[in-house]
Amino acid sequence: MSKAQKSQKEMFQDLAAQFRRSARKPNIHGYSPHPKQRNFHASEAKIRALLGGNRSGKTVAGASEGVFYALGQHPFKEVPKPPTQGRIIGSDFVNSVEKILRPEFARWMPLSAIKGGSWEHGYDKEARVLTLENDSTVEFLSTDQELDKHAGASRSWIGLTRNSRMITSLRTRCVCSTRTVICG
Ligand SMILES: Nc1ncnc2c1ncn2[C@@H]1O[C@H](COP(=O)(O)OP(=O)(O)OP(=O)(O)O)[C@@H](O)[C@H]1O
Ligand SMILES: [Mg+2]
Repeated sequence: MSKAQKSQKEMFQDLAAQFRRSARKPNIHGYSPHPKQRNFHASEAKIRALLGGNRSGKTVAGASEGVFYALGQHPFKEVPKPPTQGRIIGSDFVNSVEKILRPEFARWMPLSAIKGGSWEHGYDKEARVLTLENDSTVEFLSTDQELDKHAGASRSWIGLTRNSRMITSLRTRCVCSTRTVICG
C-alpha cells in the first residue's frame, strides 16, 4: 500500500471512529430540549435563569446554551458571531467545575469544534481555558477564587450555577459588563 493510500485509509478510520463516538454519545447536534429548556434557550433576556426541581434539566440547559453561544450557532435566536469570550462559573473547582460543569459542557461540545479536535489540544489546564476552531474561548472560574479574578476583561456571555449569593457578589464585577448571563 502506498503512503498516500495509507494516510487516506487512516483518515477514513478516524472519520469512522468519530461517527461511532457521536452515535454512542450525541453532542449538541443530537440535543433535544424539553419545552421548559426550549423556552429558556429562546429567551432574549439579558439575564435568564432556569428554575426547577432536582433533575429537571437545569445543568443540561445551561451547558448547552453555553455551547450554542461558543459555536455562534443557535437553533432559536441570533447570537453574536464568533470569536466570542465566554465564562462558566461554578461554586468550587473540585466538585462544581471539574465534576459537573466541565463534563456537562464537554458532553454537548462537538470535538470537531475544539481547536486541534480534542480537549487535550484545545484546553489549557493551567488557565482552564478552552479554545475552539472558530477562536472563541470559554474559561472556567470558581467562586473559590478571589473576586478580583472575576473582574477585568468583559465577556460575551457568562454561565452560572444556581447560587443567588454568588450571583449577587459577582454582579458588580462581571455581570454588568456582560451581554448575556445564563443561569442553569
Ligand atoms: N434535553 C435533555 N436531553 C437529554 N438528557 C437530558 C435533557 N435534559 C436533562 N437530561 C438528563 O436528565 C438528568 C437531569 O438533568 P440535569 O442534571 O440537567 O438536571 P438538574 O436540574 O441540573 O439536576 P440537579 O437538581 O441535580 O442539579 C441528567 O441525566 C441529564 O443528562
Ligand atoms: Mg444541576
